[in-house]
Formats: sequence, C-alpha cells, structure tokens
Amino acid sequence: MLSLDTRFVTQAVADHEWQQLETQIIALHEALEQGRVPGADFRGWIHLPSQTLAEGLDPLLETAASLRDEIDALIVIGIGGSYLGARAALEFCRSPYWHLRSREQRGGPAVYFAGNDLSGPALADLMRVLEGQRVALNVVSKSGTTTEPAVAFRVLRHWLAQKMDAETVRRRIIVTTDRQRGALRKLADEEGYLSFVIPDDVGGRFSVLTPVGLLPLAVAGIDIRALLEGAASQEQALARPELRENPAYRYAAIRQALYRKGKTVEILVTYEPSLRMFAEWWKQLFGESEGKDGKGIYPASAAFTTDLHSLGQFIQEGYRHLFETVVHVDDPGEDVTLPSDPGVDDGLEYLAGRSIAWINDQARLATHVAHADGGVPNLLVRVADRSERSLGELFYFFERAVAMSGLLAGVNPFDQPGVEAYKRNMFALLGKPGYEEDRRKMMERLGHQAR
Ligand code: PA5
Repeated sequence: MLSLDTRFVTQAVADHEWQQLETQIIALHEALEQGRVPGADFRGWIHLPSQTLAEGLDPLLETAASLRDEIDALIVIGIGGSYLGARAALEFCRSPYWHLRSREQRGGPAVYFAGNDLSGPALADLMRVLEGQRVALNVVSKSGTTTEPAVAFRVLRHWLAQKMDAETVRRRIIVTTDRQRGALRKLADEEGYLSFVIPDDVGGRFSVLTPVGLLPLAVAGIDIRALLEGAASQEQALARPELRENPAYRYAAIRQALYRKGKTVEILVTYEPSLRMFAEWWKQLFGESEGKDGKGIYPASAAFTTDLHSLGQFIQEGYRHLFETVVHVDDPGEDVTLPSDPGVDDGLEYLAGRSIAWINDQARLATHVAHADGGVPNLLVRVADRSERSLGELFYFFERAVAMSGLLAGVNPFDQPGVEAYKRNMFALLGKPGYEEDRRKMMERLGHQAR
C-alpha cells in the first residue's frame, strides 16, 4: 500500500500553518466533491477507477485480445496526456527495453509511440524498424485536432495503405477520441474505424485510466483490472480530507508550505530506469495543473543515481529553491548480485554477494540525508513493487494531490489555457486557413527567419 514518508522534510511546517492549511483543505475538499471549484466540469477522474470497474472492461479487453493475436506492433499516436500515461505504465510494469524483446518473450505485440513530436527522422526510423511487421495504429487525441498526432497519423496511415488492402487498414486503425467533437471523431465515423471514447469530464493529463491508457496497456498484456483496482483503493483511502488520514493532501499541504518559503522547484526523483517515464507523466500533471496565473512550483525530474553525477552538485549546493519528491518501489523486481572475485583488486570485494537493489537503496538513503543536510527537503512516496496495482495507487495519489495543491494555490487545476499560445503562432506560420492576419504579424516579427 502506498505511503508518504516526510522524515526528511527539514523545513518544518509550523503548527499554526498546518492548522490553517487543514482548515482550507477541508473546505476545498468539500467544494471539489460538490463541484464548487474552478474547472468543476473536469472532475470525472475522481470516481473513474471505481466507476470503470463497475461498468466492466469487456469491449476494451476483447479488442485488445484480438489485436494481440493479429499484430506484432501497436503504434500509439498521441501527445501529452494522450500518450504519457500509457508509456509510463508500460515502462513501469515492464521495462524501457521491453519492445526489444522477442514476441515470444513478450507474449504479444510490442507497443511503440509516435506523434509526440514533429521529427521526420524519428518517424522515418520507426517505419524502418517496423518494416515487414504486422502493425496496427491507435490514434489518441481528445480534441482530435492536435497537429503532432494528426501529422503522424496521416503519414502512418498512408504507410499502412501501401502494404495492405483497404479493409485490413480499416481494421488496423483504432481511434480514441471525444464522443462527438473534433476531426478525428468525424474521420472515425466516416471511415468506420473502431473507436473508444474519452469521457467529456476527464482532462487529457487525468486520462490514463480511460481507454487512452487502458487500450494500449491491455494490448501490451498489462493487467488493466489490477491497475484500476490499485487506483480504486486510493480513491477509497483518500476520501477523507483530514490531514492525518489523507497522505495525498499532506503532500499537497507540504508542497504549498514549501512554496511559500521559496521552494519553487520540485524534483521528482526516481532510482529505477523503469520509472523515468512515470516522472514525465507526473511533470505534465503538475506543470499543466499548477503553472498558471504567474504562479506554480516548477516540476522537474531527475533519475538517480545517474543524475547525481550531473545534477548532484547543483542539488547539493546550488541556489536553494529546490525540494525533492522521491518515488520509491520497495521491491524493484528481478535483481542481480555482485559476484565474488577475490583475485581482482577493484576495491569491490566488500560488496560481494550484495544485490544491486541493496546498493541502490544505500545510495538513496545516503542521498536523502545529504540533500536534507544541504537544505533540500525530501519527501518520499513509496509503493510495494512495480505491479499494476502499485502503479494504479501512484496515478491516483498524484491526481488527488495535484487537484488539492492547485486549489490551495488558488488556480484552476483542470484547465491549460497556456498550451494554446504557441499553437496560434504555429498555425499562422504553417499557413492554416483562418490565420492569415496572424501570419502577416508573425512574418513581420520574425523577419527573414520565417520561410
Ligand atoms: O492535458 C491536456 O489536455 C493536454 O496536454 C493534452 O493532453 C495534449 O495537448 C494532447 O491533446 P489531445 O488529446 O487533444 O490531442
């Protein structure tokens, strides 16, 4: 079961501050539950785990089962909330190298991701890697209009069409989008693609437990029921607002207390490569939810011990605006033991017989103390293992926490108006119909750089 350890939070939260935060949290919790908060239309994530389990997963599991028989590779086309959760889950429960294993070792198709950038070389390379394999596409976009996935989808659809008949292409494309709106919904209906719906009341970064994440994960053979059960256990565990009973709200309260004391950057720290993409999911969740109205804790991430050899100096002694949240799995999985080699003087014999997990954990404990001593408060969120259930707990815990943290900061945690600013400029430069005046202004500002 997930737990929060605050013993390395050296910058104490005064009793009166804690009481004030708790009073605010109790009121905000009630407002959140009753829909009296900004962005109230996007609270579908709150009861999503229990509701999805109650509704059942049959159509999704049936689609996944037939794809598992029929294909070697699924390409998930999406960006931001429409891909990060699935990718984080896949790497968390399997490994970053999982797609490199053979089909037999994996027991089913591999899952790849595209449409999360505008890179020609990356897309060309993906097509080269998958040449000759049986491929299906799952294009995911809530709005159905996002440029990156739309561009990749068009390229990959044409690529598939060169290899197979139209009926097979149609069967190999699955759309996950809005129930009614957007170009993707229209295309799915016109072309007869199988489609899954992203609920209206669930925003992109909160959508991992909808078909956005569940379908590709089921195709990969991930136990999505266990994932939802883990999340549902947190949905229940975090139902009370009192700080002593609610670790997600304690985490939110400590973050806001640290922020008020000048800790404006939070580093999500992981010690296993399989958790790196989880940190990317977390960054979007916290960055888009809190970074607005000139406020917000900047969400960064670091992969230790790797980054202790690049960022470690700054974290230990640089500008003191940092705090860390370590996500730790007690049992990281298959382990490797250091063999004994008394004949070789490499200074490591004292560790012979020790597991790498144990050595890694000593590094973690040493770093907690060093960073706390250096003025970097550390929070520790721990789960039992890398199972689907533990991951479900983590997903829900952080969703609950960010909602409360954003409300405490006085922002709307469920919108993302700032994401549109670059898009308007980009559409102008791309010459999208309707952006003619913006284009003229952009060309003027960029001068010779615009082509
Ligand atoms: O959280 C959000 O809503 C956004 O970051 C989206 O996830 C991202 O922009 C992708 O949007 P869409 O799913 O509409 O393509």
